[in-house]
Amino acid sequence: MGSRILIVDDEVAHMRALCDTLGAHGYDTVGCASGAEAMQALQAWQALQAMQAREPDPSQGGRFQLLLADLMMPGLDGIGLVQAARAIDADLACIIMTGEGTISSAVQAMQVGALDYILKPFKISAILPILVRALETRNLRIQNELLERRLREHAVQLVRMNEELRVARMQADRANQAKSAFLSNMSHELRTPLNAILGFAQILTSEKLVSTPAQKKQFANNILLGARHLLKLTNDLLDLAKIESGALSLDLERMALAPVLQECRTLVDPQARLRGIDLRVAVPELAWVTADRMRLKQVLINLMSNAIKYNREFGCVTVHCGAASGEQLRISVQDTGPGLNDEQVASLFQPFNRLGQEGGTQEGSGLGLVLTRHLVEKMAGEMGVVSTVGMGSTFWIALPGCAGIDVVCTA
Ligand SMILES: Nc1ncnc2c1ncn2[C@@H]1O[C@H](COP(=O)(O)OP(=O)(O)OP(=O)(O)O)[C@@H](O)[C@H]1O
Ligand SMILES: [Mg+2]
Repeated sequence: MGSRILIVDDEVAHMRALCDTLGAHGYDTVGCASGAEAMQALQAWQALQAMQAREPDPSQGGRFQLLLADLMMPGLDGIGLVQAARAIDADLACIIMTGEGTISSAVQAMQVGALDYILKPFKISAILPILVRALETRNLRIQNELLERRLREHAVQLVRMNEELRVARMQADRANQAKSAFLSNMSHELRTPLNAILGFAQILTSEKLVSTPAQKKQFANNILLGARHLLKLTNDLLDLAKIESGALSLDLERMALAPVLQECRTLVDPQARLRGIDLRVAVPELAWVTADRMRLKQVLINLMSNAIKYNREFGCVTVHCGAASGEQLRISVQDTGPGLNDEQVASLFQPFNRLGQEGGTQEGSGLGLVLTRHLVEKMAGEMGVVSTVGMGSTFWIALPGCAGIDVVCTA
C-alpha cells in the first residue's frame, strides 16, 4: 500500500478528482472538503493511538504521511490547518495548493511547517515529483530523529558506563591497597615470632654465650611460645585464604548447642582461671543451631578467648542465648572489660588491627575477629558488637537455629 495522503479542498470536485488520480498512482487517499473535517480525520487517528496507549513510533508516523491542503478555504484555511495538523503529528509532510496570486501566503505556509507548495491549476505529472520529494524529506527527517535519539541514548549509556568503570576502578584500587597492606602486615607478624625463635635458638646453641639451666629453660619456653604463635597465625592465614578463594568447605548440620558450648568452655577454662575470670555459660537446653561443628567451636572459642583476654582481672564473662529475628538463634559473649569507644568499634574486623593491644600483655595477631565474622557469614549468620566504655563489651553472633526454652546455668 502506498503512502497515505489527506487531500483537503473546499472545491469538492477538484478534491475528488485529485483523490482518484493519486489513487490511480498507487497512493492511499482520503479526501476532506474543509479544514475542520481534515482535523477530525487526524484527531481520530490521535485518539486511536492514545487508546492503544502506545509510545508514538516516529518511524511509523501518523495515519497520514502527507497532507495536501488548499490554501484558501472558509473556516480553517491551509495555513491554520498545516499548523494544527503538525501539532498532532510533527512528522506529517504538508504541501499547500494555491493560486498564482497567493504565492506570498504559500511562503507563509512553508514558514509554519509546509514542505512545498503547488500552483493551481496543475498537471498531475507536475505534482507527482513534488509529492515524492516531500515524502522522501519526511522519511529523512524521521530517520534523522531516530538517529539523534539513539545517539542521545548511547551518550547517556556511555556516561553511565564511564561512571561504573570509575567506581569499579576505585574499588579495585582500594582492594589492591588493602591487599598490599595485608601482605606487609602479614610479613611483619610472621617475622616477629620467627626472629624470636631464631634468636633464642642461637643463644642456646652458642658456645660463646653461656647460660644457666634456668635461663636455658626460659629460652626454650620462649621458643615454644613463638612457635605456637606462629602456628596459630599460619592456621588463621590459611583459613582466611581458603575463605577468600572460596575453597572453604563447610559441613553444616543441625546440632544441640549446649554440648558445643560446654566443650568450648572446657577449652578456655584454664585461660579464665589464670586471670581469675568467672566464666558463666547459660544455655537453653533445647537450643539448636545449624552450623559446621568445628567452625562453630572456632568462632565461640575466639569470642570467649577475647572476652577473657580483654577483661579486667577477676572479671566476669557470660555466654547466653536467645531468639533473634527470623529463624535465628543469637549467642552473646559479654565481658566486664574496659569496653570500646565508637572509633574503636569502627576499627574492629580489620586484619592485624589490635586497637593498641600490640604493646599489651595479651597475645594475639589481630586476625581472630576477621576470621570469626567470615566464618559466621559463611554459615548464613551475622555478627555484631555492643560496647560501653568502662562497662564492657558484648560480641554476638546469630545463626540459623532456635532458642528453645528452659535456660540452664552451668556456671
Ligand atoms: N571483648 C573485647 N573487649 C575489648 N576489646 C576487644 C575485645 N575483643 C577484641 N577486642 C579488640 O579487638 C582487637 C582485635 O581482636 P581479634 O580477636 O581480631 O585479634 P586479637 O585477639 O588481637 O588476636 P587473635 O588473632 O589472636 O584473636 C583486639 O586486639 C582487641 O584490641
Ligand atoms: Mg582474638
